[in-house]
Amino acid sequence: MTRNEEIIERAKKRLLQNYKQQPIVLVRGEACTVWDADGKAYLDLLGGIATCALGHCHPQIVAAAKKQMDTLWHVSNVFYSEPQIALAERLTTSSGLPGARAFFCNSGAEANEALIKLARRAQVDRGFTDRYELLTFESSFHGRTLATLTATAQPKYQAGFEPLPQGFRHVPYGDLDAVRRAIGPHTGAILVEPIQGEGGVRVAPPGFLKGLRALCDEKGLLLLIDEVQTGFGRTGKTYAFQHEGIIPDAFSLAKSLGNGLPIGAMVCTDAASKALPSGTHGSTFGGNLVAAAAACVAFDLACSEEAMAITVRKSARMFELARAVQARHPTRVKDVRGKGLLMGIEIDGGAADVVARCRDNGLLVNLAGEKTARFAPAFVATEEQLVQGLSLFERSL
Ligand SMILES: Cc1ncc(COP(=O)(O)O)c(C=O)c1O
Repeated sequence: MTRNEEIIERAKKRLLQNYKQQPIVLVRGEACTVWDADGKAYLDLLGGIATCALGHCHPQIVAAAKKQMDTLWHVSNVFYSEPQIALAERLTTSSGLPGARAFFCNSGAEANEALIKLARRAQVDRGFTDRYELLTFESSFHGRTLATLTATAQPKYQAGFEPLPQGFRHVPYGDLDAVRRAIGPHTGAILVEPIQGEGGVRVAPPGFLKGLRALCDEKGLLLLIDEVQTGFGRTGKTYAFQHEGIIPDAFSLAKSLGNGLPIGAMVCTDAASKALPSGTHGSTFGGNLVAAAAACVAFDLACSEEAMAITVRKSARMFELARAVQARHPTRVKDVRGKGLLMGIEIDGGAADVVARCRDNGLLVNLAGEKTARFAPAFVATEEQLVQGLSLFERSL
């Protein structure tokens, strides 16, 4: 029995079997390379699913986390702490939201829960006690808590968990007319991903977010953007909504924010923030000092103008390589889509087998939806690694 197999056997006995796990145990990582328990190296172009944006064990982020660990880990949010404030300053000033403020939590689902609570109370404060409903989009993904899986418009995530919370309605993605028709007397907000990551890496059509902003202004709704997968410089802007030049009322972040340490955030306008005054929301671990200190360094490395210009260049190369693979295999590869360093390659007949063969060939990517292989490499991936990755992918087709 290999070391991988031994450890997996223990996992199968004692871990909740809620994940479809790939049959390797990862034990060490450095930038875009990870090693399994038997010493095999893999090129990691998934980065913990768009989470380790600066690669594994980035020395400057490790140093910041270690320094904070030696100083102070946790104090409770009944006290102020410097790393949280420094991170809030970065997230808010880069957002363009007027008077922006940040709330910290631990995950994407929690950040979206904060958005949902913010929207409901903001409408109540305006005197609209019946505007509790959020419109969300078919094939979206917003998390696994009861409220966020109800916002997630994919029946497979909801089956068996009924009764689901009230106040969510689902509309086709990218269809502004359908959104206009769906807005009713109870609608208070719209929650949208700029790119549907889990839904198969589907980019919102140009003008869609702008159209939603206009609709929200016309109807008195809040526009909430889920930037959990797309934020933090991944698409070449600090936040993907900035490609459309719009200002949401609030947005959520997680994944890349801590480069792998658990931290999430909700950022909102000063006006919207009034809906969550003292005592209305909170989290014990939210904005943990070690995660926040790491996130500050990660932000500076990922979201500077120079860094994002490099991300845009790497993205162009990655898409060029993928489209060349598509040109050589036009019947197998149905589509190449995405933006920045988030790319989906849709495979005729489904991508599960291809993703498994990629792993056997030493490349880590994953499934988004049933048919799409997702690439979400760290921004530190080199051009050679992108070339090697797409070549391993082609071999795995
Ligand atoms: C767009 C989006 N929102 C929310 C989430 C949920 O984040 P978490 O798993 O950290 O709760 C995810 C996770 O994949 C996501 O992609």
